Amino acid sequence: MLRTAARTLSRRVFRQTLRDFCEKVPRNLRVSEAISGAGLGKNVQIQGWVRSVRAQKANLFVDVNDGSCLQSLQIVASPEYNDPQLTFGSAVEICGVLKKSLHPKQPVELEAEHIHVVGECNPLDFPFKIKERHKLEYIRQFPHLRGRTNAFSSLLRIRSEAAWAVHSFFKENGFVQIHTPIITSNDCEGAGELFQIEASCPQNSEDDNFFSVPAYLTVSGQLHLEVMAGSFSRVYTFGPTFRAENSQSRRHLAEFFMVEAELAFTRSIEDLTKVMEDMFRRTTEHVLDRCPQDVDLFHKHVTPGHRDAVETMLKDKFHVVTYSEAINILKQSSQAFAFPTNWGCDLQTEHEKYLVKHCGMRPVFVVDYPYQLKPFYSRDNQDSPLHTAAAVDLLVPGVGELCGGSLREERLDLLKARLEEVGLEDTYSWYLDLRRFGSVPHGGFGMGFERYLQCILGVDNIKDVIPFPRFAYSCLL
Ligand code: 4AD
Ligand code: MG
Repeated sequence: MLRTAARTLSRRVFRQTLRDFCEKVPRNLRVSEAISGAGLGKNVQIQGWVRSVRAQKANLFVDVNDGSCLQSLQIVASPEYNDPQLTFGSAVEICGVLKKSLHPKQPVELEAEHIHVVGECNPLDFPFKIKERHKLEYIRQFPHLRGRTNAFSSLLRIRSEAAWAVHSFFKENGFVQIHTPIITSNDCEGAGELFQIEASCPQNSEDDNFFSVPAYLTVSGQLHLEVMAGSFSRVYTFGPTFRAENSQSRRHLAEFFMVEAELAFTRSIEDLTKVMEDMFRRTTEHVLDRCPQDVDLFHKHVTPGHRDAVETMLKDKFHVVTYSEAINILKQSSQAFAFPTNWGCDLQTEHEKYLVKHCGMRPVFVVDYPYQLKPFYSRDNQDSPLHTAAAVDLLVPGVGELCGGSLREERLDLLKARLEEVGLEDTYSWYLDLRRFGSVPHGGFGMGFERYLQCILGVDNIKDVIPFPRFAYSCLL
């Protein structure tokens, strides 16, 4: 009996000792967790980068941010912790007890018991200055450091959340994700804006090419999605896309991310516009709901007033106009356009902007483009006297073209004739096979992910919405 009592006692002592030990060993906490109240009254460790240091007589205040949210955690320490290495930008690990803050600005603060500067940062050399709100054009010059600014870290959290929302939209709607290849031999859009790839070391073969045909970085995953739509019905891809556009514009990159979807048994453009509109709405609502502080930073300080613009965009169903109607609208306008507005001409940015304004700064689908303007895969509407293709572009405020899509030519004879016209029948013999074996009416679209972010945040330059922008004549990291 005595032995049992001793065993029970020692077990209890052991448990208490373990509990005491655990209480003393600080638990690692993200700033977002600390701010939401996790670990209150507990011994915790925060790891991050200093956003401000204020030394007062009685206390030292340090704000630490770890990228988990926009807010920084306020650290309160005794003035003896004031170390010359504890500067704006330095990396720190701080242990202490998380307490409720008496200040209304923050719900909690960390009473520091130990401050360790992990990495110094000379504030004179550091390109970002304490308490300064730097412009996007300025921080763009430092792609390797701009994640340390509030604006760019908010942007990247929003980007991550928006990407997640896109995937969940497709998952909930029964689409299968396909990893379409980055290396390909096709020029889906036929615009010749290709980056050709070669092995950097010579191959031990007679052939100059690594592959037996010239290979390029993909300009669109569409043709590979069409392959898979022929067995999965609804597919999508979301990945890097490359175009050798020698453009210094605020809407073009050499490497951007495209969301593309392809639907089988689709007979009308409305089937496509519905998915495009639903995806835009669901993703935007998700971002506004999940990233309120990050979005507010943009809508209040970076692009003031843009929240109203987003609400206007989401208010009503998106407009639909035919290309021919769009041309009439442009022709009746009193605005002097630099580019022609004749039927058959491509819509330029100035035209797209005008059309969006004409529709009350709301997104507008332009459908049924001249057949000759669209790539070989577009479905012939077989109309006359005007000859159009069942193609659609979604135009949005501030950006212009956000999405491009079409019904695809599923009729073997028509597709074959068009490919023969441009001398591509052999190159695309596999594509013609899709029309030989179980062909179905189908269609799809692609949305530029960076342009989407520009649109909802009001960001003027596409280089400010991608972690590492690639564009002509730029240096790469
Ligand atoms: O209109 P695009 O060229 O359409 C296609 O590539 C189709 N094959 C997609 C499909 O049907 N699956 O490109 C789609 C979108 C454009 O509307 C635009 O938002 C974006 O991709 N985009 C670019 N974004 C940034 N930089 C560039 N250079 C872009 N080129 C196109
Ligand atoms: Mg296009």
